[in-house]
Amino acid sequence: MRKIAVLTSGGDAPGMNAAIRAAVRTALYNGLEVVGVRRGFAGLIEGDFFLMETGSVSDIMQKGGTFLLSARCDEFLEPEGRKKAAEQLRKHSIEGLIVIGGDGSLRGAESLYREQGIPYISVPGTIDNDLPGTDYTIGFDTAMNTILEAINKIRDTATSHERTFIIETMGRSSGFLTVMAGLASGADAVLIPEKKAEIEDVCQTLMERQKQGRLHNIILVAEGYEGNFRTNRDLNESNAFAIGKEIASRTGQDTRVIILGHLQRGGSPTAMDRILASKLGARAVELLMEGKTSRMVGLKGNAIQDSSVEDILKKKKEIDLDIYKLNKILSI
Ligand code: F6P
Repeated sequence: MRKIAVLTSGGDAPGMNAAIRAAVRTALYNGLEVVGVRRGFAGLIEGDFFLMETGSVSDIMQKGGTFLLSARCDEFLEPEGRKKAAEQLRKHSIEGLIVIGGDGSLRGAESLYREQGIPYISVPGTIDNDLPGTDYTIGFDTAMNTILEAINKIRDTATSHERTFIIETMGRSSGFLTVMAGLASGADAVLIPEKKAEIEDVCQTLMERQKQGRLHNIILVAEGYEGNFRTNRDLNESNAFAIGKEIASRTGQDTRVIILGHLQRGGSPTAMDRILASKLGARAVELLMEGKTSRMVGLKGNAIQDSSVEDILKKKKEIDLDIYKLNKILSI
């Protein structure tokens, strides 16, 4: 392998820059040429490449987002788009790819390999932490800390006004961020797609807390949660608003709704994310150099390991329901 390319794709995550830096510098250290691809798979199709040197990745480690830019690319979902991408790579004599992103990025890179034979190694970068094959994805720790900071602030005003707050956290199909943030923030209820919780139960908990003289309530809701709130839902609004309305009408509590949204995706990466990203980015390049392909690097326990992307895409990362239960016990 003489020349490789690095790209970031899908939703950005804090720590992606540290992963790019590690991949680029490991490649240069080993005598490879490295090309940066702008805007993920869209940039592959367009041939939006630039040669990277060690200075190209200076001063980016502490920054959130991805300096290579990211995009969700519809054209790449089609075989024709992937063919164009492979042609660009061959034209520039690029022999392998490092793909940093979430499940959609893995799927795209795997299709490119199967149809066009372009070897790749993927690095898990998403705040959702919804990828099997790694205990943590890059960006999860920073997002957790951002959520906790927001909840701390909301708690201040919630207490002053004796209010119930519904706080929506990201996670289209996974409640991982929500359940962990619930435990770390001491939330009073946590609603996640993986666990059915009925509105009646949540309201009962809130009424009991009111009797105990609790001044405020924090309820975390994962973006992808539907539960039995759906019937009252206006499809144009976030589920959190429907939940808020329902709780207010059933309990009479003064209720407010906050959608944390993309705030959770920004910010300077934590030490944990920078270290994880540096280790995974470096290992990804080593694997490409060893002639491997279709693997995702990840952290299992304390060890950096790699697993087959095909297997990862077949599975769903199971949420630790003991944490959900522990949160219930601790919030009585
Ligand atoms: O995949 C990460 C994620 O943050 C999800 O939790 C969220 O649903 C989605 O991205 C939002 O994506 P976009 O920025 O494209 O709206």
